[in-house]
Amino acid sequence: MGVLVAAGGRGERAGPGAPKQFRPVRGVPLLLRAIRPFASHPRVGSIVVALPPAYVDRPPPWLDQVAGDRLRIVEGGATRAESVRAALDHLPGDVRTVLIHDAARPFVDAATIDTVVQVASSGTSAVPGIAVSDTLKRVDPVTSRVTDTIDRTGLWRAQTPQGFPRDVLDQAYRRAGEQGWQTRTDEAALVEAAGFPVMVVPDRGSNIKVTTPEDFAIAEALLAR
Ligand code: CTP
Ligand code: MG
Repeated sequence: MGVLVAAGGRGERAGPGAPKQFRPVRGVPLLLRAIRPFASHPRVGSIVVALPPAYVDRPPPWLDQVAGDRLRIVEGGATRAESVRAALDHLPGDVRTVLIHDAARPFVDAATIDTVVQVASSGTSAVPGIAVSDTLKRVDPVTSRVTDTIDRTGLWRAQTPQGFPRDVLDQAYRRAGEQGWQTRTDEAALVEAAGFPVMVVPDRGSNIKVTTPEDFAIAEALLAR
């Protein structure tokens, strides 16, 4: 099994300073927290991390320490999707099941990883998700007026790690390439567009994506529980 870690972003919404994936939460960098549950997973044989171009030649030393000879570092692209593609291109050919995870999610729990792995390794793509509990409004971006309230029945928020059979992912990328890469915000959407089933497995609310300075404060608070 292989894990692709999207860590090639600039973390602009997290404010000035080093990109957020290298910043510590309670002393441990976000990216290290995001990788650890996979590095310690018995079935993970390969970890490919996409880093911002400026970090590829001087990766943080703890990356090597956590992943050892299973680690490959690749240069990320201009978008998350391009970073993931670059990582996939460097995944060893014999890997049959692929997990894709965001460096900005440091709190995925072992049970969620196991369920995603179980579904993906049995041949079906799997996405951890949270049922939407808020009321959803569509809003005019200019006037801020609500134009619509959307029925949230059956709506889920997709998170990571997303898991895929390698051949399904390869076919989805091939098809997307042929059709000119319409923008998709996650890999599961490529797989769906190629006509393959994708299952949602329930995730925990604590598997947050750290995006803003406030999220760093929330992350610190989660660890203090
Ligand atoms: N990512 C990536 N390559 C990019 C952009 C994003 O690998 N070119 C990664 C980020 O490092 C992050 C994940 O994709 O782990 C989710 O993206 P996001 O939370 O948007 O992170 P950033 O793009 O870095 O942040 P921002 O959008 O605020 O600049
Ligand atoms: Mg981004």
